[in-house]
Amino acid sequence: LDDDVTGQDLAGRSVVVSAGGTREPLDPVRFLGNRSSGRQGVALAHAAARRGATVTLVAANVDDALLPDHPAVDVRQVETTLELRDAVREAGSAADVVVMAAAVADFRPATTTTHKIKKTSSGPAPIELETNPDILAELAADRLRDGQVVVGFAAETGDETGDVLTHGRAKARRKGADLLAVNEVGVGRGFGDVPNEVTILDAEGSVVGRGSGSKDDVADAVWDAVAARLRAATT
Ligand code: CTP
Ligand code: CA
Repeated sequence: LDDDVTGQDLAGRSVVVSAGGTREPLDPVRFLGNRSSGRQGVALAHAAARRGATVTLVAANVDDALLPDHPAVDVRQVETTLELRDAVREAGSAADVVVMAAAVADFRPATTTTHKIKKTSSGPAPIELETNPDILAELAADRLRDGQVVVGFAAETGDETGDVLTHGRAKARRKGADLLAVNEVGVGRGFGDVPNEVTILDAEGSVVGRGSGSKDDVADAVWDAVAARLRAATT
């Protein structure tokens, strides 16, 4: 994909993208984390820059080799959910769009010790957790800036209570984000470098876009939906 194909429909726009997975420390050497590589968020940042936007990429534990090297992308590295929230909100206060592509830890250890936790003869102590803030729901509720487009990502599987879209629709309504990109995960889908399948929902759960193929294709489908909303707001 190049500019001839996608155009510069985000020129003059400022966007924030979060990527990667947050880590919640237990002690100086251990953490609770997840396997998100950050590839989808990096692809989103790259695509936005290619389409003319100024981008802040808030990267949670993304491998240095994956981070974009583009003059329009400012990278801010964070580790924990609370750090990610601060960085997203700081950059988001001046942004036209915030995309939460990071895999955010739902819980964190209630306490973090300054010393390494030792093995004892009485066996392991339980790990007490507390709930992290829902950064996306907060952004949707607070609206850091008038007319800001707030976008979430959700990886879903079908189960006995409903299929992927049923779960996606419920999440879209619950979160209140303008757009929710619902990724169907399962065998051979959504992990590593394999093709993705994404359905983009609005806050009511209606389908407003689809993307399938590489993470770059998914990123462009998301920005297509965002650009349509930005255009609608200014006409
Ligand atoms: N998210 C967030 N803050 C959290 C958890 C999630 O901002 N504490 C964002 C993610 O970045 C993503 C979206 O919310 O854009 C959906 O994340 P997901 O984990 O699917 O949603 P949850 O509400 O945590 O629901 P679930 O019980 O399925 O994990
Ligand atoms: Ca979650």
